[in-house]
Amino acid sequence: PARFALFGHPVAQSLSPQIHAAFARQLSIPLQYTAIDATAEAFADLLARFAAQGGGGANVTLPLKQQATALCGSLGDGARRSGAVNTLVRNDGGWHGENTDGRGLVRDLTERHRLDLRQRRTLLIGAGGAARGVAPALLDAGIGDLFVVNRTPERTDALADALGEPGRVHPRYMDDLKAMGEFDLIVHATSATRSGSLPSLPMSLIGTRATAVDLNYGDSAIPFLAWARAAGAHDAIDGLGMLVEQAAESFRLWHGRRPATDEVYAELRQRHA
Ligand code: ATR
Repeated sequence: PARFALFGHPVAQSLSPQIHAAFARQLSIPLQYTAIDATAEAFADLLARFAAQGGGGANVTLPLKQQATALCGSLGDGARRSGAVNTLVRNDGGWHGENTDGRGLVRDLTERHRLDLRQRRTLLIGAGGAARGVAPALLDAGIGDLFVVNRTPERTDALADALGEPGRVHPRYMDDLKAMGEFDLIVHATSATRSGSLPSLPMSLIGTRATAVDLNYGDSAIPFLAWARAAGAHDAIDGLGMLVEQAAESFRLWHGRRPATDEVYAELRQRHA
């Protein structure tokens, strides 16, 4: 069977192998999808070895999404605009890079959760690979102004610049959050909660119809979503649906067919609260 893999660090706990295995069963496509633990230093070599062994495609997760852009001979629109790659597609001797995170997120919010994103005043917390991956698709989905905050301001500015819509995308400092008013959509895209800390957020950020989304799932999504519920958010949504939808988009890029996602999602939801 064709070989696929997920590169990241850490990856042992990742659900991607079982999601892709379920998709493959559903569409009767034989494939092997494994998780390869790769530090930033080892990634380029491990990817080259994977290609030499016949690897046909790969997903890339933290902390490698930005680094992966440099290993691609060509980039799709979302990957180019975000400067982050989560999907590698083998093409004559090299890799084509795409980013399916944003489309996956928008699909989860608009189809599974039936939310209308248009004109929503949006706050994006974080400016790493995950934040970069979703920003272009959120803009394409018709949100209103997009405000970006991040612990390291230089990365906030770099993301805002990369998006190239200065009239609509506004970099801000974390310290400005208290004076920024209410938002209709707040997307938490830092990895801070994976090490148990949540950036300090004033409850004044949550508008009456606000949707709060954490790109993390499982335990890492608890602190931000608990904060959002306490602040009165209308919806509090974790990243499990996005995870399944971005996987389906990657699967479509590799195999030409998009699997149905509801069953896989329901099964994972049962096990990951
Ligand atoms: P990912 O692919 O998950 O985005 P990443 O590219 O390493 O991983 O980015 C991690 C993000 O989480 C960044 O926005 C990072 O902020 P910095 O750019 O300042 O590093 C953010 N982050 C990680 N730990 C954090 C913490 N303890 N507090 C606030 N933000 C944190």
